Amino acid sequence: MLKDISAGGFTFFTNYQSRKAHGIDLNPNVSLLFPWYAMERQVSISGVAEKVSAQESDDYFATRPWGSQIGAWASAQSSHLVSREELEQRFQGAAQKWPEGSAVPRPPHWGGYRVTPLNIEFWQGRYSRLHDRLRYERSTTAGNWELSRYYP
Ligand SMILES: Cc1cc2nc3c(=O)[nH]c(=O)nc-3n(C[C@H](O)[C@H](O)[C@H](O)COP(=O)(O)O)c2cc1C
Repeated sequence: MLKDISAGGFTFFTNYQSRKAHGIDLNPNVSLLFPWYAMERQVSISGVAEKVSAQESDDYFATRPWGSQIGAWASAQSSHLVSREELEQRFQGAAQKWPEGSAVPRPPHWGGYRVTPLNIEFWQGRYSRLHDRLRYERSTTAGNWELSRYYP
């Protein structure tokens, strides 16, 4: 889930030991895709991902509902899970440690990434496959955004 859009980029939160986090470790050049099928519309963003500060992750983690905070401790995201019961037991274990109402610390392996965009493309489906593709690209010299149209 996209949690923040700012001048610096697009921020989401995840488990730093997840499959996608390992992928980002190997290659931080990423894309974010926002398809909106009913409208035949899509926004795709290419950019570079980097971890947000521990403070920013702490601040966001503290705003999450208690169940989501405990869930972050319970889930070894992307690892093989033998049974549903195992996940539930891990949840109960964390819930006993930090009962509802107590301050749940952020797991050290959980936090955010910010994607600094290099280009942002807006795609709109249209008749006879004559779709619109409008792409904003960050100019390498001036740092401003240049808008171009592409063949569909
Ligand atoms: C509506 C929705 C929102 C999601 N948001 C996130 C999110 O913000 N962070 C996250 O790590 N996974 C999120 N997920 C789960 C991911 O789709 C994915 O299953 C998970 O991140 C594991 O991916 P990986 O094993 O490729 O790292 C979301 C799933 C849905 C359906």
